[in-house]
Amino acid sequence: MHLVELLFVSSLSVATFALDNGLMRVPPMGWLAWERYRCDIDCDHDPKNCISENLFMDMADRLSEDGWRELGYVYVNIDDCWSSMKRDDNGRLQADPKRFPGGIHKLARYMHDRGLKLGIYGDMGTHTCGGYPGTTLDKIELDAQTFADWEVDMFKFDGCYSNATEQEQGYPLMSKALNATGRPIGYSCSWPAYQGGLPPKVNYTQLGEICNLWRNYGDIQDSWDSVLKIINWFFENQNVLVSAAGPGKWNDPDMLIAGDFGLSMEQSRSQMAIWAMMAAPLFMSNDLRTINSGARSILQNKIAISINQDPMGIPGRSILKEKSGIDVYWRPLSKNASALVFFSRRNDMPTDTRLPSANSTTPQAATRSMMSSRRRP
Ligand code: GLA
Repeated sequence: MHLVELLFVSSLSVATFALDNGLMRVPPMGWLAWERYRCDIDCDHDPKNCISENLFMDMADRLSEDGWRELGYVYVNIDDCWSSMKRDDNGRLQADPKRFPGGIHKLARYMHDRGLKLGIYGDMGTHTCGGYPGTTLDKIELDAQTFADWEVDMFKFDGCYSNATEQEQGYPLMSKALNATGRPIGYSCSWPAYQGGLPPKVNYTQLGEICNLWRNYGDIQDSWDSVLKIINWFFENQNVLVSAAGPGKWNDPDMLIAGDFGLSMEQSRSQMAIWAMMAAPLFMSNDLRTINSGARSILQNKIAISINQDPMGIPGRSILKEKSGIDVYWRPLSKNASALVFFSRRNDMPTDTRLPSANSTTPQAATRSMMSSRRRP
């Protein structure tokens, strides 16, 4: 049983420097195809003839008609396997004409007409991770311009099939190329995930100057084990990661999977709470056409979203790990507030954890006092 509670207490403030495109001053929110759909984008509905663009239009309809957009979920992001296996005669990437008969530009217009944004995926290397055409160093400017011509709003640059030297050149070059198009395009870099996620191999100061968000760690899968592995890695390395993030530059622990098959309601609630505390981008990967009301209300939780979107943009920290299996996370928020999350790793029984009517002056002191006054057998 994983139990999470959110509370507010006190705060502080810090100035940060980020990629100068003015975008994503708070963590981006939206929907991303990969975890739920992989390369079979909508093929479970019609295996022989899957028109993938319908899925993205369906998700856009749900985001705009079911209350998601108003909460901030505005990106609809395509991941791998969208392109044709061949570039066109001018060397430009092109969408697979069978699965995206209207083309990417039409899809971007569809999003914009509904107050949404479109994201697309590419790969710094010879091929994408799924084996589709990649963006080698000589193609960076052309591909950035192609995405801008299609009126794309966000670009995820993966790193399969390239080496460290190519990545060192390619990720900053793409940042420049996207900026040079004059179109505001949020830039998501998978670079650190390919370099182990930590200094000295990863330079977070540089990343903050060239990318709006970055994947630091492995891919999320549809299981609680996978979510826990990610949570553990992020908080074990919090001293490096917390200072790397801020307005315009975010650590990305990967997608939210509430509404899929692997998590219980409590586990889904726990993921949402921890992602809110980490100031993580909130990209759901699920089927918004059939999502159940429990998962919907977790993902639409206004308190969790407002903690996630706090304008100060300082990620939370783990401040206490109890032998009893309770972890406490604390995030400073603007307006002299903070958020606390009590996270239970116990899987034997529910745990009743409360703050004493604390007159403690800091969240850490209140939490210590709570822990010493409520030992369970
Ligand atoms: C990598 C990325 C995933 C996804 C796949 C697509 O594994 O980390 O997020 O984009 O590639 O092939």
